Amino acid sequence: MPDGCTKEGGIFSPSALQTRFLGFALRNPIISASSEVNLDKDLVISIIKAGVGGVVLKTWTSEQAFKIRIRPYQFPLGRINEAYKASGSFLSLSAPDIRSVEEYLSQLPQVVEICKGNGVLLIASFYERPKQIGKWVENARRLKDAGIDIIELNFSSPSAVSEFRANLRLAGVIIRSILDQVDVKVGVKISPDMEPLEQLVEDWEKAGIAYIAAHNAFSGIVVDTEKEEPFGAPCISGYAMGRAFLPISLARIVRIRRVTDLPIIGIGGVFSGSDALQYLLIGCELVGVSSAVFVEGRKVISHILDEISEWMSCKGYRSLADFKGKAFRLVESTSEVKSREQFPFAVPPLTPFIPKVKKDLCIRCYKCLDTCIYGVFEEADNGDVKVNDANCYSCGFCVGICPNGAIVLVQRKATDTVVWSGRGTAETFKQKERR
Ligand SMILES: Cc1cc2nc3c(=O)[nH]c(=O)nc-3n(C[C@H](O)[C@H](O)[C@H](O)COP(=O)(O)O)c2cc1C
Ligand code: SF4
Ligand code: SF4
Repeated sequence: MPDGCTKEGGIFSPSALQTRFLGFALRNPIISASSEVNLDKDLVISIIKAGVGGVVLKTWTSEQAFKIRIRPYQFPLGRINEAYKASGSFLSLSAPDIRSVEEYLSQLPQVVEICKGNGVLLIASFYERPKQIGKWVENARRLKDAGIDIIELNFSSPSAVSEFRANLRLAGVIIRSILDQVDVKVGVKISPDMEPLEQLVEDWEKAGIAYIAAHNAFSGIVVDTEKEEPFGAPCISGYAMGRAFLPISLARIVRIRRVTDLPIIGIGGVFSGSDALQYLLIGCELVGVSSAVFVEGRKVISHILDEISEWMSCKGYRSLADFKGKAFRLVESTSEVKSREQFPFAVPPLTPFIPKVKKDLCIRCYKCLDTCIYGVFEEADNGDVKVNDANCYSCGFCVGICPNGAIVLVQRKATDTVVWSGRGTAETFKQKERR
């Protein structure tokens, strides 16, 4: 049973996953984000067989300096420690597609045919030096002539990020120049540290982009403490953060959605159906997957799709539209939420909520004793957990840390009223009209 599924659903039709993006029909909203997974014809065939609804080809550029690829260049972090392994993190010094423009373009018609034959959306990704506007336009024209569906301007490649950061102003000029001269839909891929985000999005929307792909990965470096050396390559590289990336990417997508209705491809940290659903519930049209394919293999795509299908079935949803954006409508600004706080400066014992331990669920692991930094929990003589609620700050940490769901936060003055049980939004933040 997928996460959040509490009731048995009806019969689920795979057509429930079908969707549309910028007028193109897709068999499902999971796309293979740009990477070597989509490098050439044979690799594209493999990922299509794995079940994706769309493919963003490996980023291409004509600039030799950006294509330099050191080897080895892929460094999974599982050998460093278990936490990295569980998260799926790795360092990568991947560079754009090495092929010449002739080689790249000569294979494109076959890739186009394969995608069209399978009803799979085909997006081509490229970048050039920001000031070389003519090259951007020329590439866009050639890609359009080759039959690709959509173009993704990669303003986020780690190999060129400093050059883009210094020339972000030119992004609008690049977009306008392409759209003035080539009849094609153009989106922009952004990096997770591009600022001022809202301003850039508004500028690019005015320039005419059709969608935003958010996000590329961060940069990173890891030290191997056993060897006392940088891990993998002795330089900063791209850092696929694994699952830890998801909340960061999602938060920026909320910021983007507040200033535009442009479609968004949500990317970052998707390893499961429930990860992908987070992007759909926040309002993304499509969800991009990259690291998970490297770390888990292509089979991860069908696992993700199966989990989404099961979840929709058990929730009784018949199409993606039934729930897309549902969570976004409940997101408020942090200042709004703070402005409603009734006990903004309370200290114990005047804080509003205290933990309540459900005896029947407590497995006496004493994790709560170790982790409540205020010493609220104690082991009683009979082994039960005793609560010294006078010290409680009402922070809620213990609710989430208890491995068996034995702790809930209740009103200090009405201990039968639960305000936080560890799932969904805490009751205390829900406005009456939204309940
Ligand atoms: C090995 C590797 C190569 C990548 N190459 C590209 C690329 O050529 N163009 C691009 O836009 N993004 C590229 N990315 C970024 C991914 O498309 C994606 O935006 C990022 O990794 C975050 O998603 P994830 O958490 O699912 O990996 C690459 C990522 C990895 C791990
Ligand atoms: S963390 Fe939960 S299960 Fe463990 S002792 Fe505390 S209340 Fe009991
Ligand atoms: S709410 Fe915070 S302060 Fe209170 S018991 Fe739980 S962890 Fe400790």
